[in-house]
Amino acid sequence: MKISFHSQALDKLALEALIVPLAVGGASKMPAELQSKIPQTAFASFQGKIGQHVAIFPNQGVLERIILVGLGDTQSDIALTERLRRSVAFGTRESLKLSASKIGIYLPETNETVLYESALMPILAAYRYEKHRSKKEDHKELEHLVLIGDKKLAKTRSILEWVAIIADSVRIARDLVNAPSNIMTPKRLAQAARTMMSGIKHCTIATWGLPELMRKKFGALLAVAQGSDEEPQLITLQYQPPAAKKTVVFVGKGVTFDTGGINLKPERGIEGMQMDMAGGAIVLTAVTAIAKLKLPIRVIAIVPATENMPSGAALKPGDIVTTLAGLTIEVANTDAEGRMILADALTYAADFKPDQIIDCATLTGAALVALGEEQAALIGNNSTFVDQIIKAGTVTGEELCRLPLTDDYREHVKSEIADVKNVGRKSNAGVISGAAFLEKFVPKDLPWAHIDLAGPAIRSYPRSYEPKGGTGWGVRLLIEYIHSCISEA
Ligand code: BES
Ligand code: ZN
Ligand code: ZN
Repeated sequence: MKISFHSQALDKLALEALIVPLAVGGASKMPAELQSKIPQTAFASFQGKIGQHVAIFPNQGVLERIILVGLGDTQSDIALTERLRRSVAFGTRESLKLSASKIGIYLPETNETVLYESALMPILAAYRYEKHRSKKEDHKELEHLVLIGDKKLAKTRSILEWVAIIADSVRIARDLVNAPSNIMTPKRLAQAARTMMSGIKHCTIATWGLPELMRKKFGALLAVAQGSDEEPQLITLQYQPPAAKKTVVFVGKGVTFDTGGINLKPERGIEGMQMDMAGGAIVLTAVTAIAKLKLPIRVIAIVPATENMPSGAALKPGDIVTTLAGLTIEVANTDAEGRMILADALTYAADFKPDQIIDCATLTGAALVALGEEQAALIGNNSTFVDQIIKAGTVTGEELCRLPLTDDYREHVKSEIADVKNVGRKSNAGVISGAAFLEKFVPKDLPWAHIDLAGPAIRSYPRSYEPKGGTGWGVRLLIEYIHSCISEA
C-alpha cells in the first residue's frame, strides 16, 4: 500500500474516491474548489452529524466519487480528534464498499495531528482477517492513500513513516489475536515474536520452554500449563537503545486458549477464548514499534504464554502452588489462570530493575461487564503514573477508567491456607481483586499499573476503525505512553 501527500489543486488528482470530513455547519467553510464539485442537493440529507454520510458521483472531472462524512459538532462528548478518526475510517469503509481502492482524504485542517490520524485510520479501517479463506470476500483492498492538505508540513515525511510503523504493529497485533488456538500456540507466539523483532537494531529476544521454566522455578506458569499438551513459553523481548535513561517493562497475558481448566467455562463463555493472549500480543507489537521508531527508552515485553486446559494432569480447584517469588497460591478457581501466570512474570520483571511496570491482560469478565467494549480498567499504585497512562489514552483515543485498590479490597484475596487466593469474593469487585492479587508480586516501591482490557481487546461488532474481532487495542496507547516519557527521561 502506498501513502502520499498532495497539496495542489484537486482538478489534477485522479482518485476513485475523495473522502471529505465535514463538521455540522462546515459546508459553507469549504474551499471554493471543493464547493463547486458538490451539488447543493447533497446537503438535503447531510448536515455533518456523526454517522451521516453521502456519496456523490460527479459526471465530470477526474474524481470518481466524493464521500462526505459527518464530523459532528462540539455538542458531542467525543473529542474532535476521535470524531475525525471515526469519520475518516467510516469514509474509507464506504469507499471500499463502492469498489474504490485509490482513496483521497481531504484534511479538514492541515496540522500534524490531523495528518497523522487521517493517514493512519484508513489503514486500520481497511483491515480484514482473511488468511484462512481460499475464496476472499469480493471487496477492494486499500491500495493508494492520498492525503490532501493546503500546505506541506515540514514533518510530512516522518509523520507518514511513523504512520506506517504504527499501522503495521496494530495489524500484527490483530492478526495474532484473531489467529485460532491450533495455529497460535505458545510456541508459535514465541516464533511470531522472533519474526517481528528480527533485524531491528538493539532488540534481543529470549524464549524459554519447559526445561528453563522448571530450572528457574516458574511454579505458577508451570501449574497452569500442566494440563495442556502444548509447551508453555516465557517470551522476553527487549529493546535496549544506547544511553537509555529509563526502563519500562510491559507484561502481557499470553493464554492462547482459556477453557477455564477443570473449572471449565460454559458454552457461551468459552467461545472466542483464543483471544486471551491479546495482552501478550499488544506488548510484543508495541515494543517492536518502539524499537522501529528508535525511541530512547529501554522497553521490555515479558509474555508468559500457555494454554489453560482440563486434563488428567490439570490443576484442580483447591490445589496450592508455589510461585517464582516463593509465595504460595490457593487455586480456588482454575479459570483465574491469567493472574497466576502474570504473578511469575511480574516477579521476573523486577530482575530488569525497571522504573515502571505496566501489565496488560484480558483478566476478568468483570471488566467487560463494568465498562463494555468501550474502555479498559486501570488500577495502579502511583497516581502520577496512572494519570500519565490515562493521558496517553486520551491522546490515542484508547480510554481507561481508573478503579481503586485499597486494604479493604486486599482482604478479598486473603487465603486461610496459602499466602494468597486466586479469586476474590463471589461476583464482587472482580477487576479489583484481580489487581489485588497481582500487586502481591510487585515490589512495594515500584510504580506499577494493571490494565484489564477484556472489554476493548475484541469487538463483537465492528466500530469505525476497529473491525470485528481483535482490535489491537492498547498498541497505540503503550507507544504513546513511552513517547510521552521522552521529555522527562
Ligand atoms: N480470560 C478470562 C477473562 C475474560 C472473560 C476475558 C471474558 C474476556 C472475556 C479469565 O481468565 C477468567 O476466566 N477470569 C475469571 C476470573 C474468576 C474465575 C475469578 C472471570 O472473569 O470469570
Ligand atoms: Zn480464565
Ligand atoms: Zn483467561
